Amino acid sequence: MRRIQTGRLIALLIMVAGISTAGVSLHGLIERTYALGGPDELDVPYVPTPESVVEKMLDMAAVTGSDLVYDLGCGDGRIVIAAAKERGARGVGIDLDPERIRESKENAREARVTDRVMFVRQDLYNTDLRDATVVTLYLLPSVNLEIRPKLFKELKPGTRVVSHDFDMGEWTADQIAEVDGSMVYFWVMPANVSGTWEWTMPGSAGKERFVLKLEQEFQNARGTLTSGSSEMPVHDVRISGDQVSFTVDQAAGDEAVSVRYEGRVNGDTIQGVIHNPDGQSEGKGWTARRDPSTVVPIDNSDEIPL
Ligand SMILES: C[S@@+](CC[C@H](N)C(=O)[O-])C[C@H]1O[C@@H](n2cnc3c(N)ncnc32)[C@H](O)[C@@H]1O
Repeated sequence: MRRIQTGRLIALLIMVAGISTAGVSLHGLIERTYALGGPDELDVPYVPTPESVVEKMLDMAAVTGSDLVYDLGCGDGRIVIAAAKERGARGVGIDLDPERIRESKENAREARVTDRVMFVRQDLYNTDLRDATVVTLYLLPSVNLEIRPKLFKELKPGTRVVSHDFDMGEWTADQIAEVDGSMVYFWVMPANVSGTWEWTMPGSAGKERFVLKLEQEFQNARGTLTSGSSEMPVHDVRISGDQVSFTVDQAAGDEAVSVRYEGRVNGDTIQGVIHNPDGQSEGKGWTARRDPSTVVPIDNSDEIPL
């Protein structure tokens, strides 16, 4: 389900309202969009991100020489070119408009970064994003929502996503900034920790079996940890990239002590350490394994018929 016509129209009007205040002529914008074969061809009209906002986007995503930055709808290529020239990153710019791709290649030549960037005329919806470590967007609210399931399907946990002016609906941003009247939204792709995890650890009465059940909503999760006959809620769950941590108030004799579990998620395994109430590592490790059939996709909104 790719296009939501009413949503797109409303979003386009919102964008146009913002753009007209930024000094770009509405008439020129619509003329350019229609000249390319009508609004059905491009999902978003071409409007460049101001340089100050480009800098902020790259700062928030903490782009370095080890990154591969994808700009979906790259316009004149300014975001990936700045990432390559100023931060030493590699970049891929995707745009459906051949004129934008020509411009981007010319700009990359002028900036002497052709060895680190490439520009491809392609529909962003058909672009394989699995290699990206950073994804930049200046699209529309409805287009952000339409590509959100694709981001969750293809991007690795820890990949940074940064969007000029438009958010991702109920996937709230990890950071928000304002630069020269523009909003910048930043997210880190969370690992999917949903489902049922199990592990054993030596306890006072021999080997103890633990069962952790987690339900996830984007970067937030809640659930329970069961050991023997006691089921305890987990709280302060934090998921950042492939790192997960949570606290459980576990019984210790007549008292309850807060124990913090920290771990790294790798597919259906979490491996990490346990911290006691003083924040010190008890030196105890935990390795949990998940029943793969219990995983729930984080965002399957593209499967909901509209
Ligand atoms: C608002 S501009 C952003 C340009 C650039 N990312 C920047 O921030 O300066 C959106 C760009 O998306 C391109 N575009 C629109 N629909 C697209 C699609 N389905 N696939 C790829 N590019 C698309 C347009 O040609 C335009 O250059």
